[in-house]
Amino acid sequence: MTINGKTVLVTGANRGIGQALVAEALRRGAGRVYAGTRQPLAHPDPRVTPLTLDVTSAAQIQAAADQIGSLEILINNAGVFAPDDLGDRAALDRHLAVNFFGTYAMIQAFLPMLTRSKGAIVNNVSLAALAPIPLTPAYSISKAAAFNLTQSLRVLLAARGVRVHAVLTGPVDTEMIRSLDIPKAPAESVARAIFDAVNNGEEDIFPDPLSASLADSWRNGAAKELERQNATLVRAAPAAA
Ligand SMILES: NC(=O)c1ccc[n+]([C@@H]2O[C@H](COP(=O)([O-])OP(=O)(O)OC[C@H]3O[C@@H](n4cnc5c(N)ncnc54)[C@H](OP(=O)(O)O)[C@@H]3O)[C@@H](O)[C@H]2O)c1
Repeated sequence: MTINGKTVLVTGANRGIGQALVAEALRRGAGRVYAGTRQPLAHPDPRVTPLTLDVTSAAQIQAAADQIGSLEILINNAGVFAPDDLGDRAALDRHLAVNFFGTYAMIQAFLPMLTRSKGAIVNNVSLAALAPIPLTPAYSISKAAAFNLTQSLRVLLAARGVRVHAVLTGPVDTEMIRSLDIPKAPAESVARAIFDAVNNGEEDIFPDPLSASLADSWRNGAAKELERQNATLVRAAPAAA
């Protein structure tokens, strides 16, 4: 799927990877980019339509869906990341509310449009979905759940012609991990790699040097093979009446 002429919605579009995804979509000739943000956003490009969109707000998601006539690419990028030690249930709730249920709610709301356009869903997950970061276990759990959701949806929505991609992002130089003194990829190069991979139809996307070093072993590994085998169960099942 090329981006040229397409209608794209990006959540968490005001900074970090989301901001870079908006810029890259415009650079690739997107016809319309809906930029979902919690605070008002002004953008100089007339192809950008700001949307007030907290992904934990059912009312704001519904209002956004009512405002948008058609959509070809939904990018669930909004996310929260905070340290915890699993001692506080509220930390789990906060991470799941945005990173998992926010992603789920956005997909539910925009699925009719994506089905009509035979479009694509791109969930910006994290490498933490594959192996938890013990400094941020609640975040890791929420990303593992979002990845698992992505894996099921890509099978369930294939018959409708909707592609579902997971971005297994490694460390990126944004506010989110500003305090971590580790090598980080620039958000701009990550955004380019995400759109290149969507263009190439890669279902699991490894958009930075660290994640890219794991791509082959993931694609040829036992967990991916099991995902493929499990997918055949759905394809073999008779369609629901
Ligand atoms: N940076 C990394 O190393 C890294 C690695 C793996 C995965 N990721 C994932 O990449 C995505 C983008 O992260 P980033 O690095 O660009 O982080 P960031 O700079 O902290 O940006 C996070 C974005 O999410 C938005 N957001 C937070 N809660 C929201 C809510 N309830 N509703 C709507 N938007 C909300 C923020 O908006 P406000 O400005 O209003 O807070 C902001 O736009 C996240 O899902 C993150 O988990 C990042």
